[in-house]
Amino acid sequence: MSLKSNVLDLRKRKKEVQKGGGDKAIEQQAKMGKLTARERILALLDKNTFHEYDLFVEHTAKDFGMESKVLHGDGVIIGTGTIHDKPVCIFAQDFTVAGGSLGLMHARKITKIMDHALKMCVPLIGINDSGGARIQEGVNSLAGYGEIFFRNTLASGVIPQISVILGPCAGGAVYSPALTDFVFVVEDISKMFITGPGVIKSVLGEEISMEELGGARVHAEITGNAHFYAKTEMECFEQIKKLISFIPRNNLRKAMHFPPKAPLKGKKIEDILPDDPRMPYDMRDIIKAIVDNSDFFEVMEYFASNIIIGFGRMDGETVGFVANQPMVLAGVLDTDSSDKSARFIRYCDAFNIPIVTIEDLPGYLPGVDQEHAGVIRHGAKILYAYSEATVPKVTVIIRKAYGGGYIAMNSRHLRADFVFAWPTAEIAVMGPDGAANIVFRKEIAEAENPEEMRQQKIQEYKEKFANPYIAAAQGYIDEVIEPKETRSRILHALKVSENKSIHLPKKKHGIPPF
Ligand code: HXC
Repeated sequence: MSLKSNVLDLRKRKKEVQKGGGDKAIEQQAKMGKLTARERILALLDKNTFHEYDLFVEHTAKDFGMESKVLHGDGVIIGTGTIHDKPVCIFAQDFTVAGGSLGLMHARKITKIMDHALKMCVPLIGINDSGGARIQEGVNSLAGYGEIFFRNTLASGVIPQISVILGPCAGGAVYSPALTDFVFVVEDISKMFITGPGVIKSVLGEEISMEELGGARVHAEITGNAHFYAKTEMECFEQIKKLISFIPRNNLRKAMHFPPKAPLKGKKIEDILPDDPRMPYDMRDIIKAIVDNSDFFEVMEYFASNIIIGFGRMDGETVGFVANQPMVLAGVLDTDSSDKSARFIRYCDAFNIPIVTIEDLPGYLPGVDQEHAGVIRHGAKILYAYSEATVPKVTVIIRKAYGGGYIAMNSRHLRADFVFAWPTAEIAVMGPDGAANIVFRKEIAEAENPEEMRQQKIQEYKEKFANPYIAAAQGYIDEVIEPKETRSRILHALKVSENKSIHLPKKKHGIPPF
């Protein structure tokens, strides 16, 4: 054959394989609002940058009638491309080919691109759309998952790992996304569960739909498995692109620098905090009044909303924010909010992203439910994460900083580099009401008018202890600042922390309270 006919033959072969599971299967997917695996990759990457590998890989299974089956690309597409002109490695499972199920060669393709990502130190994006371990391939499928999980763990903290759930992600398959840094889900499309509705019905006799069991909202709001929730696949891809713009390519680099921008002229920062210290307000307004262009990219927005985590830029550099949300449960720390923030702090620390903490909380959430849910164990995670983090760490206490909450939210004692407090800060062992009841119990009980005495003692306590000046006198906070100074003080603190260099004691690794 001539070169020309060889090339034509190659094109024909490629076209055939690129059809995946064929028109009928693709139509079925489209009816569910799903793009094909190839369309997804092309929609996510910069135009004309996708380079595919292993297109002609085929399965090698022989049992259960597999010998005669052709599975194009073995149900997964792998390759490289760019997002914002920065390289990424990517794989996308193709549900039209044997339900995107994972057999030996399918797994080999995924592990090949994972190895590539780790070797080249670039982000890995995995689009999951699969019925799980390919039943006909038995232990080879399980081995494939094991190889993937091992690589997810090895790559953790070295390169960003992003999972996108765009279809079912069933059985053990869920553990790869769970081991990655960020999980994206899409309404009506994402389904994640260990055991499906069928198994639940036969074992427990309970009827539940896939959506109720492990749909996008379930993971965004209830389980905390998902970090980003979108209404459509295209919205999800925009979110991924935005995330990529905030994070560095690997743990040795810094995130992309953008031209500095002032916050938008919205609500003035000094007008956000209500005069009544018992009144809630939206902490996001404070963050937006601080970050460049008021652009705050929230992570896990719908889960444990009593704490806010996310990325913003200050003078063009990425910063991770951790802030209590007084609008939800008064911003207390509990099991879920501790988990949520601790993991984010560790992410920022692993990827050289400075952390700004904004504090207003009455402490840890009291109650039997919390105690029995392990608030001691989970609550310890945030202490561990802050103590261990060596990136620049700045704290601003704007109102309440009581008890364990004061310590946990990146206090000086956990090695915050800079701690600022607004004059409205109340730094004390506990809130004035509780404190007065305990410390002045006798005087209150013996008073002619106990309630009047109680109010008097609460006031006395507030004046004496619930302010920033005692902590300032001890040097636990560095400066009491005016609200309008907040952005400039943080900016300066981050600037002088640019070359921060500290070393933790030498060890193989710590043992965090997982
Ligand atoms: C082989 C599979 C498959 C699988 C789906 N298919 N899952 N083939 N192994 N695990 C095939 C189907 O046979 C079908 O092939 C095609 O994919 C489409 O599947 P449908 O069932 O028709 O699609 P749908 O109705 O949309 O249902 C999707 C589904 C369902 C909910 C994912 O297929 C399902 O429940 N699959 C099994 C899920 C599961 O239990 N997986 C766990 C496996 S054990 P044809 O040829 O008819 O088109 C596991 C353990 C791993 O994962 C442990 C690692 C630690």
